[in-house]
Amino acid sequence: MKSIGILTGGGDAPGLNAVIRAVVKYGVGQNGWRLTGIEDSFNGLLCRPYRLMPLTPTSCRGILQRGGTILGTTNRGDPFDFPGPEGRVNRASDVKDAVDSLKLEGLIVVGGDGTLRIARRLMEDFGVAVLGVPKTIDNDIAATDVTFGFASAVACVSDALDRLHATAEAHDRVLILEVMGRDAGWIALHGGIAGGADVIVIPEIPWSGERIAAKISDRRKIGRQFSLVVVAEGARPAGEPIVPGKAAARVAHEIETRLPGTDVRVTVLGHLQRGGSPVAPDRVLATRYGVGAVDLVEAGRWGEMVCLRDGRIDGVRLELATQPHPVRVDDPLIHVARAVRIELGG
Ligand code: F6P
Repeated sequence: MKSIGILTGGGDAPGLNAVIRAVVKYGVGQNGWRLTGIEDSFNGLLCRPYRLMPLTPTSCRGILQRGGTILGTTNRGDPFDFPGPEGRVNRASDVKDAVDSLKLEGLIVVGGDGTLRIARRLMEDFGVAVLGVPKTIDNDIAATDVTFGFASAVACVSDALDRLHATAEAHDRVLILEVMGRDAGWIALHGGIAGGADVIVIPEIPWSGERIAAKISDRRKIGRQFSLVVVAEGARPAGEPIVPGKAAARVAHEIETRLPGTDVRVTVLGHLQRGGSPVAPDRVLATRYGVGAVDLVEAGRWGEMVCLRDGRIDGVRLELATQPHPVRVDDPLIHVARAVRIELGG
């Protein structure tokens, strides 16, 4: 009987439970695996006793539509740089020892670029067999067309913009929505287009206050007294460094300065983008990834990450998967945004 471990790492994303469910249904239910869930990312292997959750089709009933992760997660559990009472220590060999003592053939690691980088180091430095599954609302993992969780986050942004639209129009306001994405603008770009934003600023295109103000003024000239502005949390003005936590406030200040008397308000969407039930496309994608992960393990393709390429599930070496994946200025969606007269600020 194959004995496999599975963990979820980094920030949660809608669809984590759908991946776990698919691995359980296919790996355990059909292929006869013993599947051990590891709690709170690698942390579950760094404590004594280990924190484990046997996963069976019965124990995983009813989780497809649930947000979060039944295994728990953390983005503070790097075993190579682990916080302890006497400072940070490298405890990666403890992960290897745990995998050996639990007689696990390998670990399915469901995570974003940070977690997948840890998995890769465990494989390269300690020979731990790992198989990645790309998770993040940010969609910033190279080598896969899309990550699960992203569509749900975009749906949340689009819904928020619909709500803000009504208030912006009723009050003749400029409403700014700050969205997540870390240093990539995928959520802002997709969510902004879906929600009919007038201005979208993303980290990859430093913005000019002059352009943003001109767009708002131009709309006023055609009788549109309100505007919707989407600001990615990593966006910054041209020539200035990013000030963490201040992306939307900085844009608001610029608009108020350039267009005195404008009623500008900021909404920070925050973790609403991460929790909650996955939208249908994320449930499908997460299920495809879970099944794909089982197929890769069965084929002995450890060291790879399951990916979606041109609509087909495949595997890619982890070292290629952990490359950054920013929005390129020649991305077709940038053209689309400009074509429908969305101001990108630069
Ligand atoms: O990577 C997912 C993400 O939600 C980013 O978009 C965001 O910058 C970060 O995690 C927030 O992390 P935390 O929940 O630890 O504040």
